[in-house]
Amino acid sequence: MYTAIIQKATEYSQMVPAKLLDSQRHAGPDRLGRYYTKADIGRLLIDQMSGLTPSRLLDLGAGGGSLSGAAIKHWSNIELLTVDIDERSLPHLSRLFHGCESLKHSHIRADALSQRLPQLIHSRFGHIDTAVCNPPFITPKWRKGFAMILEEAGFSGCMPVLSDVDAAVLFLAQNLRLLSTRATLGIILPDSLISAAKYRQFRKELLRRYCIHRAIRLPRGSFSNTDALAHIVILSKGSETATVPLQKLTNDRTLAPALHVGIDDAAERLDFDYHAHKVVAPRSQNVQVSLGSLTEELWRGSLSRTQGRLAEVPVLHTSDIRPSDAGKWCDLSDFGDFRKQLRGTTQVQYAEPGDILVARVGRNLERKVIGVSAGFPLITDCVYRLKVPEKFRDSVLSQLSNTNGQAWLASRAYGVGAKQLTKVDLLTFPLFL
Ligand SMILES: C[S@@+](CC[C@H](N)C(=O)[O-])C[C@H]1O[C@@H](n2cnc3c(N)ncnc32)[C@H](O)[C@@H]1O
Repeated sequence: MYTAIIQKATEYSQMVPAKLLDSQRHAGPDRLGRYYTKADIGRLLIDQMSGLTPSRLLDLGAGGGSLSGAAIKHWSNIELLTVDIDERSLPHLSRLFHGCESLKHSHIRADALSQRLPQLIHSRFGHIDTAVCNPPFITPKWRKGFAMILEEAGFSGCMPVLSDVDAAVLFLAQNLRLLSTRATLGIILPDSLISAAKYRQFRKELLRRYCIHRAIRLPRGSFSNTDALAHIVILSKGSETATVPLQKLTNDRTLAPALHVGIDDAAERLDFDYHAHKVVAPRSQNVQVSLGSLTEELWRGSLSRTQGRLAEVPVLHTSDIRPSDAGKWCDLSDFGDFRKQLRGTTQVQYAEPGDILVARVGRNLERKVIGVSAGFPLITDCVYRLKVPEKFRDSVLSQLSNTNGQAWLASRAYGVGAKQLTKVDLLTFPLFL
């Protein structure tokens, strides 16, 4: 029975638009975003849904079946429906499910973002009460039908740029269109949707319209061929809850105890690390102020690294800041002094003695905070130059670069690939004076 249903299902392959594959931006080398979920992460996602008793489960973008495979191990009697645009998905799934005689499985080779998918699925398969999904890490070229998908899920008014929507939002919205009332979805979402300020409105809408049962921050390395940062989110149709449990899976695969945050805080970020980090005052009599309240100037360099190379001038980049120098005042005279040449121009900026340099972008940006003791280096746009009154300089440099400060910066940095730290976040750094 298993094989017969799969072969019949290939008839839907006409739902794959011929030009689709050339019309999208992808974050990594794979244009279909085929970064498969590692087996333990698939199991963790299903464990989070273990209280459910589903009868029909949908996996949009099923790929090699990491999530479906974990699901059928847990719920042996479910009916499974997988969808993928990639013709290689079906052979993978057939191999994975080989021998599962009692499994009722149907596979559709189709574009999961087709407007017509819900009609097709509902007419052939009826209601879907549970879904799992790890969307491709790509940004598909905008198509008219996407507006309807977003609209029906309630997300059309909260996207920063409607025509530049991450596939994760579209897959999330399409799942929500497809699921029956009170159905549950376990989905993997990129860190940008969970943490970026530009998606705050999206998170607000998500939390207002749906019930978020849990969000779990995953360690890098949770997917094959990428070290993208992502989170598991379990949600269902139904009203909002008062608090959202946030968790984190550590590198050694331990699940940290849940932190319950209010809805407004969850809209700020759905990230465990962000809320878990509280800076403790070194002494009880210390007064806490924000870095922003002391800052005289904060800007980032104006040259890209490539521009610096083309101009054949040394420009200080994040890679020039050694983690071993964190918290030190450094002599940067080796980067030259171009003040004379730059007189009269405000377009190219340089740092000067007394400034504090903070990496804005990078995997370990929190370990790259130094002071300038000498020199006037040009800096790239990946580095912030911070100026505070002289009497606070030592204290600010030390607090930004000590263990507590590094943990705080790491908790504020976000990004699917290289992390970044926004100016707004940096200015909220808590200082104790
Ligand atoms: C990140 S992989 C996830 C695969 C699998 N669910 C897992 O967790 O390992 C994304 C999957 O989406 C599929 N995909 C990409 N664009 C699609 C589209 N428009 N319609 C259907 N599937 C798509 C890719 O072929 C790939 O298998």
